[in-house]
Amino acid sequence: MPASRRVLVVGGGGREHALAWKLAGDGAEVLVAPGNAGTAAVAENVPMAATDVAGLLDVARCRGIDLTVVGPEAPLVAGIVDEFTAAGLRIFGPTKRAAAIEGSKSFCKQILHRGDVPTAMYREFRSAARAREHLEAREDMPVVIKADGLAAGKGVFVCQNRAEASAAVSSLASDPLLAAAAGSILVEERLDGVEVSVLAITDGRTIVTLPPLQDHKAAHDDDQGPNTGGMGAYCPTPFVDDALLAEIEGRILVPTVHAMRRAKVPFQGVLYAGLMITAQGPKVLEFNARFGDPECEPLLMRMESSLLELLDATVDRRLDACAAPRWREGAAVSVVMASAGYPGAVTKGQPIRGLEAAAGLPDVQVFHAATRHLDGQVVADGGRVLAVTALGPSLGRAKLHAYTAVKEIRWQGAWCRKDIADKGLRRERDLLAAEAVSQESPADDTTSPEPATS
Ligand code: AMP
Ligand code: GLY
Repeated sequence: MPASRRVLVVGGGGREHALAWKLAGDGAEVLVAPGNAGTAAVAENVPMAATDVAGLLDVARCRGIDLTVVGPEAPLVAGIVDEFTAAGLRIFGPTKRAAAIEGSKSFCKQILHRGDVPTAMYREFRSAARAREHLEAREDMPVVIKADGLAAGKGVFVCQNRAEASAAVSSLASDPLLAAAAGSILVEERLDGVEVSVLAITDGRTIVTLPPLQDHKAAHDDDQGPNTGGMGAYCPTPFVDDALLAEIEGRILVPTVHAMRRAKVPFQGVLYAGLMITAQGPKVLEFNARFGDPECEPLLMRMESSLLELLDATVDRRLDACAAPRWREGAAVSVVMASAGYPGAVTKGQPIRGLEAAAGLPDVQVFHAATRHLDGQVVADGGRVLAVTALGPSLGRAKLHAYTAVKEIRWQGAWCRKDIADKGLRRERDLLAAEAVSQESPADDTTSPEPATS
C-alpha cells in the first residue's frame, strides 16, 4: 500500500479511534475530524465537527483526501455522502436516502416488508391520540413504542402492558426532542430472545458479512438500569454459529440490500442489523447505517486483513472482486469505562491515570471515546470515556485481558460494567455441556430397540 494514501475519518468517539488505528496500521495517513486525545496518537486531529459537512468538504479538498470514512449516523442522515459524491470525492457510507434505514423506523419497516425480511409486527400512527386508541382497542400485551426518527437512543420504550405503553406515547408527545423525532409513532410487537448484532459491508450489490457480536446496552450488570449507547461488546458471539450466520445473511442481509436496490435507494457502507434471536429464528429489531460503537472496537481488533482495501473496494463498487477479510483466531472484548452520571449528565475534565500502563499490556488497545488533552494531561470529556479492548485466544481470556487493563486506569468517578461477555461465556458452557451429553447419547441410540420415527 503506497504510504501516500490519505484517509479522513469523520467522528470523535471510540469507533473512530478504532477506525483510525486500523487504517493507520493498514498504511494510510489518517486525519480525524474532530477526533480525541486517543486519535491524536495515531492520526492528525482536525478541529471540525462531524456534522459540519461544508467544513469537512473543504478539509477533504485542501488536504488531498483519497477516501473519507464516516463514523456516526448524524452526518450520514444529513447527506454528507451525497455532497462529497457530488463534489467528486470518494466517501464510504450510505447516501442520505439510504441512511434513512436508520434515520426512519417507518422507512426501515417498509424496506423489510418489501424484502420479506423477518421483523416484529407493527402499526404506525400519525398522532399520539390514534396510537392510544389502538392500544385501548387491542389485547393488553407487551409492546414496544418507537419514535419514527433519530432520537439519540431515547425514542424506544419497551413496555410490559397497556398502561406503560400509553405513558410512553404520552412522553413521546410531550418531550420536545422526541416529538420532533416522532414524525409518526410505531407500536410494535415485543420480541423475546437474545439480542445480537451482525454487521455487513456492502457496495449495494455484493455483501461481506462480518463476525457476529453482542453489545451490552443497559447501564448496569445483569442488563439492569437505563439504556445507553453501549457499555461493552465482544466478538464473535457464540449465540450465532456458522449456520445461523448463513441464515441471517440469506434471510435478512441479502434481501434487505436487494430490497433497497429495487426501491432505487441502493445502500453502500456498513449495514448493521440489530437482531433478536427468537424461538422462530432471527428477527430484525433495527438497522443502523454505520459501524456500531463499541461494536467496531472488538471487531477491528480481530481484523487481520486490510480494512482500507475493503473500504476502497466498497466505494469503487468492486466488492465482488475483493478477497474475503481474514480474522484473528480467538475473541475480542471491549469494556466501556464511563464517567459518573452517564447516561445522564456528567462532569468533564478529570485527569485520567494509568493509560500507558494499560496500553503496555499485551493484546490490549485503549480506544478513547471522549477524551482531550488539557494542560499536558489526558482528561475525561464526556459520558463514555474509554473502550478498553483486548484480544485473547478464547472469550474468557479476552475478558480477563480487558479487565486487567481496566484495573490500571482510574479517574474520579470512573465506572464500568463488570459482566461484559458473561452471557457469551455462559452460552459457551451450555454448548459444551450439550455437546458432552450428545456424545454420550449415540451409544444409547444404537442400543435403543425402537429407532425413533418422526
Ligand atoms: P432500537 O433502537 O429499535 O434497536 O431499540 C433499542 C432497544 O430496544 C433494542 O436494542 C432492544 O433491546 C429493544 N427493542 C427494540 N425493539 C424491540 C422489540 N420489538 N422487542 C423487544 N425489544 C425491542
Ligand atoms: N452500540 C449500539 C450502536 O452503535 O448503535
